[in-house]
Parts: sequence; structure tokens; C-alpha cells
Amino acid sequence: MDHDTILILDFGSQYSQLIARRVREQHVFCRLEPCTMSLDAVRDLQPRGIILSGGPSSVWAEGAPTCEPGLLDLAVPVLGICYGMQLLANLMGGRVERGDAGEYGPAAIEIVERNAFFAGCDDTERVWMSHGDSVTGLPAGANVTARTPTVGVAAFADTTRRLYGVQFHPEVSHTPKGKQMLRNFLFDICGCGADWTMESFIEEATRAIRKRVGAERAVCGLSGGIDSTVVATLVNRAVGDQLTCIFVDNGVLRAGEAEEVMHVARDEIGLNVIAVAAVERFLERLKCVTDPEEKRLIIGDEFVRVFTEEAERLGGARFLAQGTLFPDLIESRSAFGGPSARIKSHHNVGGMPSWSQFELIEPLRELFKDEVRELGRELGLPHSIVHRQPFPGPGLAVRVVGEVTPEGLDILRQADAVVQEEVRTWEHYDRIWQSFAVLLPVRSVGVMGDARTYDFAVAIRVVTSRDGMTADWARLPDDLLGRLSARIINEVDGVNRVLHDISSKPPSTIEWE
Ligand code: XMP
Repeated sequence: MDHDTILILDFGSQYSQLIARRVREQHVFCRLEPCTMSLDAVRDLQPRGIILSGGPSSVWAEGAPTCEPGLLDLAVPVLGICYGMQLLANLMGGRVERGDAGEYGPAAIEIVERNAFFAGCDDTERVWMSHGDSVTGLPAGANVTARTPTVGVAAFADTTRRLYGVQFHPEVSHTPKGKQMLRNFLFDICGCGADWTMESFIEEATRAIRKRVGAERAVCGLSGGIDSTVVATLVNRAVGDQLTCIFVDNGVLRAGEAEEVMHVARDEIGLNVIAVAAVERFLERLKCVTDPEEKRLIIGDEFVRVFTEEAERLGGARFLAQGTLFPDLIESRSAFGGPSARIKSHHNVGGMPSWSQFELIEPLRELFKDEVRELGRELGLPHSIVHRQPFPGPGLAVRVVGEVTPEGLDILRQADAVVQEEVRTWEHYDRIWQSFAVLLPVRSVGVMGDARTYDFAVAIRVVTSRDGMTADWARLPDDLLGRLSARIINEVDGVNRVLHDISSKPPSTIEWE
């Protein structure tokens, strides 16, 4: 089925994927492509509208990214956002200057000329700005449509040619009417139909996977979490028995997890899955390692070794399917080769060793977690999978702070089981993104009965989040916190102190390592 398509040209903004997501949320199909896409390729796509994303560059910088100027003559509406607006102004013959005072963060715009883009907005709207350069001279045929006191042109439009520029970011939640503005662009200005759904995503992803895999064999690392289970189900739909899922018991799983995952994957979903016992080899490689990044890379490497060996046993497999999501890419490295900092090497991204021969199938690379949950629901996956809390690939290894030992894992597993059990009783459990225990390499003095103890401390981490990119600590009731502390100290040998982690992300991260 052909959909009305919005083409988003990426100039390297950290928000480019967010624009794509906002478009998908309106049930409009979109493609995110590099800004260098050729005019012919754009014509072939027959987009209903084009969005030029923001980007970290200045239009004046040497080698600043640009796009085909001919895009503006295709009689297709164009919306330039931030850098995209400056580029649009530049290409139309306007003037862009390096600002002395950039604008970063919240700002108020005054709408000075109404057009379809601002339908439903008030005369003054709060928006999110993030730019250094400013448009100071408007191209012929364009009018200023919104201003801010600081930089002047906050938006312009040439309504005859249907070219629109906004200096602010309508795609972020800090621009409250941003969604409305994007809707106006998609439906009123571009005339798109809302005909794209998760069902169509499934159909198209399945078709693409089938075409790519052909008659070859694929393996899929299955952890039992929503991401890998959705990928396994999609690939299974596409190529059936050509796929073998591999569940690795790596010794850093939660209590009871191996049995549960195998049961759900095999018996409830009907996947072709094998379990690999690999506890010793993972723990052996983690011995004496304390650096968090080193731990992550070792685990990523060992996972791929196991997948490679199992693939050989199956007679070879060309493809490895993984549940990589967009936030994993962002945090592991810049998704676009840009300047964003590496925060953590997510096991399936930063941990992919250079020696691996696998070709990757990553159908969820552009999606955010809540979109994957929706996909899981659409695929008919069990409630327990769709609503399962995220669990990091490196597992408990990044929750035993410092060296990972069998004793430490044993303590953590028991404390973690208490956290799982107790937090589930909370009436607002459905608000929680993740809840878990962390074992700290800190010992302190206590008194139990009449005896002195010198035992470890456990931290409780319970957070709310929308997509894992930012998070807040959950305000748990006192009595629940009290029960958690009492039960962990009484029931888990080796722990005599419980701490509550009340840090948000940023500046902390969700996992401790
Ligand atoms: P952080 O700790 O970076 O985590 O705030 C953000 C979200 O990602 C999960 N996480 C991972 N997931 N592989 C994964 O599949 C990983 O290597 C990994 N590291 C962190 C984390 O649990 C949280 O939900």
C-alpha cells in the first residue's frame, strides 16, 4: 500500500528522530534521509511535504551541510526547522547572520501574521529555541509570521510557494503547541491523509526482512525483553524457520528469568528458540574487571561469540537480528556521526565487535520504546512482554558496582527479587519505568541481634520515564520504602544497609554503570 509520505532531511540535529516520531504519531508515513539526498531520489519518493531538520552547524561554516536547491521548485510544501529554516532562507535568497546573542531554552514568540501553520495558536506561544545564527533579511515573497524580542524572526512563510521556516523546535514537548503546528503542516498545508499505522509498519518491515534474508539463515539474540521479542516475532513472521532465536544464560540474569523467558518465547509465542548455558564463560571474562565500559564491551563481545558459535552449529547464519532502538544508538555514539558524546556503550551497539561477520537486521532502529510497546501489542504479544520493564543487555553486571563476583550476584539477585515483589504491590506500579536493586561495593557497620555486622549496602532505584532518555525518581510511599528496607536487610545475608536513589536523569543515568 502506498502512503502519503513526508520526507525529513537530516542535517544532524539530535531532534531529527523526534520529528520523525511526531509525524508517525499523526499516522503519517515518513522517511528520514540524509540531507544530501539527490533531487531525482526525492522526486521518485513523491513526498507530500519536506521537513528540513535542525543541525549543529552554522550556514556560514565551511562544509556546512546543504541540500539540493531544486527541492524548493518541486511545488511541494517545505518546513525548515532551526538550521533548516536558516538554510531555507539562505536558499531563497534571504540573509542569515551569526547572532551575538543566540537563544537557548524557553522563549515566547509573538505571532504577527496568521497563516495555516499557526491555526489554533494564541497570539503569544511558548516555544523551545536552540540556535546561534538568525535570519535577519527575508527572501522575496516571504513575510515574518512570528517574532521574539531577542532575535526578531522566529518564523517566516512564503504561503504562495508553501515554504515555511521556524526558528524554534515544534517537535519537542517544551513547545506546547508544537504538535498542533506540525498537524497543521501535515494535514492542512501538505494535505496528507492519516493512513499510516503500526499494522502497516509490521507489513512493511516483514516484507523488507523477507526480501533481505532471502533463502539465508538468521539468528536473533533473544533476551525476553520487549525489544528483542518484537524483533524475533517480526523476523519469524518474515522468514519462519529460517530464524533461530538464541537465549543466552549469561549468569547476570535476574532470579527465575531464564525459565520464564524460555517458557514465554517457546510456549506462548511459539518462537524457534534455543537456550545456551554460558554462565562460566561470561563470569570468567568479567573477573577482576571494574571499569563499567570495559564490562559492557566484554559482555557485548561474548554475546556475539556465543551467537557466532551457535550459528556455526546451525550450519551458518548470515544475519543477526537485534532489538536496537533509537535511544540506544544516541547514547552509544552519535547516530549520525556527529559530535554527540558517548554516554554508555549499549551492549548491542557499542559492543558489536569489529571481527563479527554478521550482517545486522535492526528493524526498530528508528523507534522509541513506547512505539515498540505499541508494536508488541499489535503483534499480539503477551501482556507480560508488552509491559515488561526494560532490562539492560549487560544485566546485573552493571548493577553490581565494581567487580562482578558470584557472591555479589547472589546477594543482588535476592535483594532485587524483594524489590520486584514489593514494588508490584504499589497502586501506581503502571507508572514505573524500571525498579531494581544495585549492590554497592561499600561495607558499613551494623548491629543485628546483639552482634556487630560489617556488610554491604544496597541501593533501590525506581524511576519513571517516557523513553529512557530522561527519567525521574518515583515518589514511593514511606511504608513501601520501609518494607523494602526491612525485608532486604532481614532476608538477604550480607546486606545491612539500604539506600534510596533519588537522582533524576540527567544528570544521573538510570543504570549505575
Ligand atoms: P541509562 O542507564 O543509560 O539507561 O540511563 C537508559 C535505558 O537503557 C537501558 N540500558 C540498556 N539496554 N542494552 C540495553 O538493551 C544496554 O547495554 C543498556 N544499558 C542501559 C537502561 O536499563 C534504561 O532503561
